Amino acid sequence: MNTLHTIAQVRAAVSRARQEGKRIGMVPTMGNLHAGHIALVEKALQRTDYVVVSIFVNPMQFGPGEDLDSYPRTLAEDQKKLLDVGAHLVFAPTASEMYPEGMEGHTRVSVPVVSEGLCGGSRPGHFEGVATVVSKLLNIVGPDVAVFGQKDYQQLAVIRKMAHDLCLPVQIMGHPTIRAEDGLALSSRNGYLSAEQRAIAPILQRTLQQIAAEVQGGRNDYAQIITEASQRLSDAGMRPDYLDLRNAENLAPVSDDTAELVVLAAAYLGTTRLIDNLEFSRS
Ligand code: PAF
Repeated sequence: MNTLHTIAQVRAAVSRARQEGKRIGMVPTMGNLHAGHIALVEKALQRTDYVVVSIFVNPMQFGPGEDLDSYPRTLAEDQKKLLDVGAHLVFAPTASEMYPEGMEGHTRVSVPVVSEGLCGGSRPGHFEGVATVVSKLLNIVGPDVAVFGQKDYQQLAVIRKMAHDLCLPVQIMGHPTIRAEDGLALSSRNGYLSAEQRAIAPILQRTLQQIAAEVQGGRNDYAQIITEASQRLSDAGMRPDYLDLRNAENLAPVSDDTAELVVLAAAYLGTTRLIDNLEFSRS
């Protein structure tokens, strides 16, 4: 397994693999890999012959005051995990390789509607940064299949829409969230939590499960369900950023006709922002 740092080197390596008739898979990441990322790599390995994992903490998707500087960078450990799982190539560019003229005048990819509200509401410009870097990474590698985690539910919806609208010749695949035994969704940001906060964190997923159970039990006073659940999160010591029920397919607001739903949440524990979601059918 090689680690390459330039676009030209990666293009040359992928083109050799293609000449050998291999199907190319890709898993874009920001590194600090955990079992959730490794599951994405395993899925790509099952579906393709040559898997490229990118590791790039993309400055364009971080807002002012967010954790760009403190985001964990653990390339050596990440390389070992990727070698063990059988990935073929790591692409770890620098910011100047990705944005040689800086980000100011850089072309941006914006995906309206689906980027609005939820994380897009709390993190202005975030999804533009994600869509821009993911389209660059897909254009650099040219994979047949790219795999993303469903923990970032809105991100996956944004990327699917972008790939569809821009006619990108890639199949975008989601992979279910990998969780700790107590239900907490695995995330690089869990490493910021103190022991006390880590003990509280699983309440986020439990709250989403309670909301799903209430809707499945026939309640349709959605705003009241959300108000009560937000209060439970606050009582547990979290500061809810958003909590919302949406149509699972297009993230539109729910009505009584919506059959497939998703409940999504972001909440702060101290300064750490955790996100999670739960898809469910009404019956
Ligand atoms: O989900 C992530 O880790 C990032 O948002 C992604 C998709 C790698 C883009 O930087």
